[in-house]
Amino acid sequence: MKILSGPTFISILCLIYLITIPRVSSSSPSLTVPHHFLQCLDTQPSDHGSPNSATAVIPTNSSFSSNLMSAVRNLRFASASNRKPEAIVAALTETHIRATISCCKLLNLELRVRSGGHDYEGFSYTSPVPFVILDMYNFHKIDINMADETVWVQAGASLGELYYNIASKSKVHAFPAGVCPKVGAGGHFSGGGFGNLMRKYGLSIDHIIDAQIMDANGKVYRDRRSMGEDVFWALRGGGGGSYGVILAWKIKLVRVPEKVTVFKLERTVREGAVDLVHKWQQVAPVIDRDLFIRLEIKPINRKISKGKTIKVSFIGMFLGTPERLLNITKKKFPELHLTTSDCLVKKWIDSVVFWANYPEKAPIEILLKRISANEYYWKRTSDFVQTPISKEGLAKIFQTMIDHSPLPRRVWMQWNPWGGRMGEIPSDATAFVHRGGNLFMIENFMNWYRPGDELEEKFLAIARSFKEAMAPYVSKNPREAFFNYRDVDIGITTPGYNATYEGAKVYGEKYFKGNYLRLVKTKARFDRTNFFRSQQGIPVLA
Ligand SMILES: Cc1cc2nc3c(=O)[nH]c(=O)nc-3n(C[C@H](O)[C@H](O)[C@H](O)COP(=O)(O)OP(=O)(O)OC[C@H]3O[C@@H](n4cnc5c(N)ncnc54)[C@H](O)[C@@H]3O)c2cc1C
Ligand SMILES: *[C@@H]1O[C@H](CO)[C@@H](O)[C@H](O)[C@H]1NC(C)=O
Ligand SMILES: *[C@@H]1O[C@H](CO)[C@@H](O)[C@H](O)[C@H]1NC(C)=O
Ligand SMILES: *[C@@H]1O[C@H](CO)[C@@H](O)[C@H](O)[C@H]1NC(C)=O
Repeated sequence: MKILSGPTFISILCLIYLITIPRVSSSSPSLTVPHHFLQCLDTQPSDHGSPNSATAVIPTNSSFSSNLMSAVRNLRFASASNRKPEAIVAALTETHIRATISCCKLLNLELRVRSGGHDYEGFSYTSPVPFVILDMYNFHKIDINMADETVWVQAGASLGELYYNIASKSKVHAFPAGVCPKVGAGGHFSGGGFGNLMRKYGLSIDHIIDAQIMDANGKVYRDRRSMGEDVFWALRGGGGGSYGVILAWKIKLVRVPEKVTVFKLERTVREGAVDLVHKWQQVAPVIDRDLFIRLEIKPINRKISKGKTIKVSFIGMFLGTPERLLNITKKKFPELHLTTSDCLVKKWIDSVVFWANYPEKAPIEILLKRISANEYYWKRTSDFVQTPISKEGLAKIFQTMIDHSPLPRRVWMQWNPWGGRMGEIPSDATAFVHRGGNLFMIENFMNWYRPGDELEEKFLAIARSFKEAMAPYVSKNPREAFFNYRDVDIGITTPGYNATYEGAKVYGEKYFKGNYLRLVKTKARFDRTNFFRSQQGIPVLA
């Protein structure tokens, strides 16, 4: 538990106080909003008389900052210019969540729900208007039922915890989801959730079979039947933060071989990277679906002459033996020259450690780490590629990356192949729309390590200029974007107000294309008052 219970005498004082002054909004005007909020929590129904406010910290509390920062992954949104919450509630029970919702309504505060805190624009822990963070940190139970290969996983659990727990029960089960172990199930699954099993098994949401959610009235829906199929549909890809507080997901595990094969090969332009990437585009999205090859494309300093060149890493996950892998790559991608000595054979759970970039010999317990440390500043965006890029185009992109890489920083990219199972699932089966027709998804990176508005402006401008330069090569009308890689540059609505269908369409169509209207209709039924809102929320249909 992250937050300790407060001294009882304070709550007794609060109770006495609240009995004499029943309406929170009319209590002493000299009290600050955070204090009003704490008081309000204790007017709400509680568990066996234990005060709800014991789960909350407010800015004057010495634990406030460490609680806030425990899951801030992008330091841009920790700066002084970002509004801080009036309170952080680390709920232990549904009662605490319900009380938090009620008090946000009573005090007209926005609610931001945080599971793993990886939101690219800090939406889970910042807001332009006065707000409260509901931290799902303590909701991280993972209940595995090996008899039917299903798991109930609470929203605040991290992917690393999920993977670790699966591996402790079975060597041949896994779950298709992201490669970063600290990512939270709450945000990750609601946006889709992709990882290195996606060509074989699709996204996380393709294996989510049930969910539990609390709505703006504090009502809990224990299964998809009670919440309605449209809400269950919306929660799978329509993004968190727009419908309710997701409490838990029920997932169906998938099978993996006892040993899998991973590799990482690096090739510079001198070593033929342009041709290899050109070929990769034609091969990676159609090759045997047991094989997933990610590219990381980075500017590096030349070894011999001055200036920069490009290095491409081919990072592979294969659900099988090196012999079968080489059989496949020799036939379909001989130019890669993959050899047995490039291959590492691992248990699936050890492949998770490899993909997370942890040290080779790190114990798998490292996957249980959730608190963030050594974070930095960044801007990341996404794009989808639907037609192969020519060799000339690739060479131009490489040069553009170099031109956009100010010393000692750089712009770099990750390319993730689609195809396989992804192409078989209809675009409207879930709210996640980017399925067949896509060859790969791009993630653009700009990282920096020092604070400062000027620095931030400089790096944001570079990141935006680079994204602009990529326009000719990626999806158009709309230029699609991945909700889990949230980007405020594609459009936002005015904070604090109800967005309209037309107003929110600017980002709604890029994230959801044809699924946008159904998301809006579902919202109108399930969250009519638009309690769960943000600058990139789903609006209520007028
Ligand atoms: C280092 C890193 C690696 C990543 N790797 C991958 C990857 O491999 N694959 C991939 O698909 N994505 C990846 N992502 C993106 C990630 O999936 C999204 O950022 C996701 O939204 C994070 O979920 P979270 O719970 O950690 O984030 P949060 O910031 O807690 O939440 C994200 C959004 O969901 C809402 N939300 C969170 N919890 C709930 C809840 N319980 N109920 C309702 N709404 C909720 C928040 O309000 C916010 O709007 C990565 C991100 C980072 C920073
Ligand atoms: C900080 O908050 C916690 C949790 O509500 C509480 O137990 C503690 O007493 C608070 N500390 C101060 C100094 O208010
Ligand atoms: C490799 O391919 C050959 C010919 O296609 C086949 O006979 C052999 O069984 C394959 N080996 C493995 C390990 O898959
Ligand atoms: C949004 O509109 C709905 C319906 O008109 C209304 O009930 C609600 O109070 C509005 N919410 C906000 C935040 O303005």
